[in-house]
Amino acid sequence: METLKILVVSQKGGVGKSTLSANLSIWFSEKAFKNTVLLDLDPHGSSSTWIDEARSSDVVTEHCVLDDFDARRWLIDCRNRVRRYTSKVEVLVCDLTWTAAMDPEILYEFDLVVVPTSVSLIELSATTRFIETIGWVFDSKSGIPPTLLLCPSRVSDAELATDPFTQRDFSVPFMLLPPIYNDESVRQLFKKQFVFDDVRSSAAQSYGRCAQAIQQAGIIHKQSTNAVKVKFADRRCLDTHNTKLSRYMAEKSNTRIAGQKLTTDRPVFTGKKTNSKSTENPSKLTKILESVIGPK
Ligand SMILES: Nc1ncnc2c1ncn2[C@@H]1O[C@H](COP(=O)(O)OP(=O)(O)O)[C@@H](O)[C@H]1O
Ligand SMILES: [Mg+2]
Repeated sequence: METLKILVVSQKGGVGKSTLSANLSIWFSEKAFKNTVLLDLDPHGSSSTWIDEARSSDVVTEHCVLDDFDARRWLIDCRNRVRRYTSKVEVLVCDLTWTAAMDPEILYEFDLVVVPTSVSLIELSATTRFIETIGWVFDSKSGIPPTLLLCPSRVSDAELATDPFTQRDFSVPFMLLPPIYNDESVRQLFKKQFVFDDVRSSAAQSYGRCAQAIQQAGIIHKQSTNAVKVKFADRRCLDTHNTKLSRYMAEKSNTRIAGQKLTTDRPVFTGKKTNSKSTENPSKLTKILESVIGPK
């Protein structure tokens, strides 16, 4: 089972992350009929309590506060939590408030990174700074980056009329989600109901459009990464041949050094999806091993 992993994150409180996380989880479970888990990493636990205390639903929740603020430990703990659900559920929604002590590498665990932001000047510049902090992840050559989705949150039509996003120079490519409007009725729903319970409400419409776009972005992301995975695995194999150890082993075993002539060292790909395992020529591998550990 392929899991669509969605991180709802921003460094600002009050932008609507927990409201979106809870209602998005319900949408995936009840409108898209996906087996859904909400992993609430926010200390306040608002989104998981909302799901747990409102009417019953099939969304599974987990609330955990990872308070180990050594960045590396936090990354490992958080990654383990996410990986526990990989391949076991269809959709994982994760609600997180970002702090400077967190390691942006965690973003590689996700397919989609949804950043809700209001469109006021002050909030947009905070969002720009946040995206700059995590920006290297989306640029990186050492992993498959997630797709960044900016979500105009709690906005009014008047604010959108000024076209705040195209005027802004974000350093990272992103997709813009349909806006979520500021709607007083949404406030009243906390722990009681979900926005989709009244299908005719304008909140149901705006959250519904946003959720649909997120699902669509997930499909596009999966399609493109499945194609990239093959190339990525390919590149990693080539890189391996460029390390000092490989060059040393190549010299020892009298094989050609990568870079001098790659064609013979290059692994062959069958065209099938691969998980970055190289398909080394076994006799050459044996030779290399023998040069290091001696013949059998
Ligand atoms: N679309 C909306 N319209 C009006 N109020 C909203 C909307 N989304 C969230 N809120 C309210 O804004 C406040 C912060 O929302 P919350 O989801 O807790 O944000 P965060 O998780 O980013 O801190 C809450 O009082 C919530 O009811
Ligand atoms: Mg929250």
